[in-house]
Amino acid sequence: MSTTSDPAASASSPAQPAQPPRPARSGAHTLAVTSGKGGVGKTFVTANLAAALAARGQKVLVLDADLGLANLDVVLNLHPKLTLHDVFTEKATLEQAILPAPGGFSVLLAGSGMVEYSRLTPEVRDKLLHIIDLVKPRFDWVLLDTGAGISDVVLYAISLATDVLVVATPEPTSLTDAYATIKVLATQQERRQVGLLVNQANRVGEGKLICGQLQQVLQRFVGPVPGQGFRLELLAEVKADPAVKQAVLKRQLMLEHYPGCDAAQAIKALASKLLG
Ligand SMILES: Nc1ncnc2c1ncn2[C@@H]1O[C@H](COP(=O)(O)OP(=O)(O)OP(=O)(O)O)[C@@H](O)[C@H]1O
Ligand SMILES: [Mg+2]
Repeated sequence: MSTTSDPAASASSPAQPAQPPRPARSGAHTLAVTSGKGGVGKTFVTANLAAALAARGQKVLVLDADLGLANLDVVLNLHPKLTLHDVFTEKATLEQAILPAPGGFSVLLAGSGMVEYSRLTPEVRDKLLHIIDLVKPRFDWVLLDTGAGISDVVLYAISLATDVLVVATPEPTSLTDAYATIKVLATQQERRQVGLLVNQANRVGEGKLICGQLQQVLQRFVGPVPGQGFRLELLAEVKADPAVKQAVLKRQLMLEHYPGCDAAQAIKALASKLLG
């Protein structure tokens, strides 16, 4: 990507930019998996990272926070009778709506009835915040599979997590949109550190190169704030791998069905890194 232009400069701010103060960590680690451009692999990463963490003995919940266009159920081949929608409308309790997923983790699916929640109303804010507060004490990790972009509902979902993982592919459009997202996270949410996963990398080292380029542009337009530089940390590089497409087509979890493939190894390494 160009290091001279600021593609996020014209990105319109959400109508309600005010975000709640980021919660101090208590209970589960909360990690939002997000992206600038859609279709770059957020749901694939979230589901398989959850399985990798679960395989390491962690109690993990994936929250389908892509309220408007939820599709975690499709990737996991689950047909939930009860969803987040039923919890929001108090037709079901959390216990009833949290389901076991293949891979040994739990999911709270949004289902297709969530389209009315794709706009950030005070009701959606309160309910999502309430649900996060309820699940945090019960899990070691809560992963939020968010929607793409910088709409107010996406940014609000991200604001509920202590840490953020931005997924981007090497395509120029994906990188430009990743930059726009990271810039908003650094300025609006005042985050000083964001994780990056370069997905569908074409060669070893591409992730490092991309991370370096993004960090350079960010440094120029976002900071450095005196005493508080901004850090984009490359947490994983996942190669373009035919096993990922195979798993999605068969609606299977890649980590379970192709555990030895390159992409599975990269996701397991990411889990190890997160566990320190
Ligand atoms: N490492 C990879 N190698 C090959 N194909 C991949 C890889 N990662 C993702 N894909 C392909 O990209 C598709 C989109 O992935 P996914 O649904 O996880 O994206 P997303 O970011 O969640 O999309 P959305 O923005 O619509 O929620 C997958 O179905 C898969 O075919
Ligand atoms: Mg998705």
